[in-house]
Amino acid sequence: MKSIVVLISGNGSNLQALIDAKKQGKITANITGVISNQSQAYGLVRAKNAGIPSEVLSHTDYETREAFDDALQTCLLRYAPDLVVLAGFMRKLTSNFVHCFENRLINIHPALLPKFRGLQTHERALAAGETEHGISIHYVSEVLDGGPIIAQAKCQIDDKEDVTSLQKKVQQLEHQYYPIVIEKILTGEIYCLENQVYYQDIPLSNTGMLLN
Ligand code: GRF
Repeated sequence: MKSIVVLISGNGSNLQALIDAKKQGKITANITGVISNQSQAYGLVRAKNAGIPSEVLSHTDYETREAFDDALQTCLLRYAPDLVVLAGFMRKLTSNFVHCFENRLINIHPALLPKFRGLQTHERALAAGETEHGISIHYVSEVLDGGPIIAQAKCQIDDKEDVTSLQKKVQQLEHQYYPIVIEKILTGEIYCLENQVYYQDIPLSNTGMLLN
């Protein structure tokens, strides 16, 4: 059985979506661990309720970014994960770390990359007058929110949209599609080779596959 480890920093609603998908048989791999860099992350409660082992590795206990990432790498390698899933893990990762988990490290970002990398994506999409917004699921590279895009899903921005309503739409997309894409990676339908993402052995465009 394949294994996934999920890295979180906060609420963990995406982790919950994965836990629920596993229960429903939509994800065949086991979620073998959850690691948080924040001891107060609510996602740790979700892991406990689901009976998934969790660990806190606080970045504040390490003097440098490299030292933290080395410790995180060591911790992760003990699980021998087939896939490392970032789900609201609010840390930039060093190149050593990224290379160690090359092609088996993915992230979900609340925007249609390459637009709106970084934080406050909903605020910025609204301020820019965008008419659509959405999510991107991508392999992680050294560039923040910059790795090869696997898939995107879109939503409309309505006239009366505000940050709260937009965030709700985007989170729904995240919870719906992250488990589906993860399952396709674990079955080998989706993979990445030399920065090119493939779906059923066909190379995808640089915005990945459109999910909706
Ligand atoms: C999500 O919006 C995700 O796209 C971003 O961080 C947020 C995490 O939310 N990377 P949650 O902790 O899964 O609820």
